[in-house]
Amino acid sequence: MADLLGDPRVMEYYPHPKDRAEAAGWINWNRRNYAAYEHGLWIIETPEGEFIGDCGLTWQKVNETAALEVGFHVTPSAQGFGYATEAALACRDFASSHALASRLVSIVHRDNRPSQRVAAKIGMNPDRTLTHSSPVHLVYAMDL
Ligand SMILES: CC(C)(COP(=O)(O)OP(=O)(O)OC[C@H]1O[C@@H](n2cnc3c(N)ncnc32)[C@H](O)[C@@H]1OP(=O)(O)O)[C@@H](O)C(=O)NCCC(=O)NCCS
Repeated sequence: MADLLGDPRVMEYYPHPKDRAEAAGWINWNRRNYAAYEHGLWIIETPEGEFIGDCGLTWQKVNETAALEVGFHVTPSAQGFGYATEAALACRDFASSHALASRLVSIVHRDNRPSQRVAAKIGMNPDRTLTHSSPVHLVYAMDL
């Protein structure tokens, strides 16, 4: 996780790449999410078991209300092969089959084209009625 979240290419649309302590904090945040909600960000691995990223479901604030978000990060050498789309589809279907929420969102930086494509390919559209605290992020959304 430290390699993934410390990579400036993966963190291009974040304030800065994470150091090891911040990556450990990220892991602990997900452990708390697993305990509280039985979901969080999970790792993505290839069929051979190679770690290539994370994808999953977390609760974020949209329009000042908790919204279920699908998020994803894929290591640069594994990007462009459809892994994020496949993982995000599985998360969407998990959220739907477990009735976790009535709506799924993805909060995406306005310049982050790959993430916008992943969101669109799993059925989301930008929803201008939804806002996040960051003015440079769009909120993609779909009904579940
Ligand atoms: C967003 C991200 C997870 C996509 O992962 P991925 O496994 O490469 O995604 P996919 O292979 O499923 O491709 C999804 C789409 O993005 C496009 N894409 C992938 N890499 C791209 C790049 N470097 N530039 C432009 N488009 C790109 C793909 O072509 C595809 O779109 P298409 O079907 O129209 O061709 C990956 O780019 C990433 O980790 N980015 C940095 C982290 C990040 O920004 N996470 C999201 C925070 S909201």
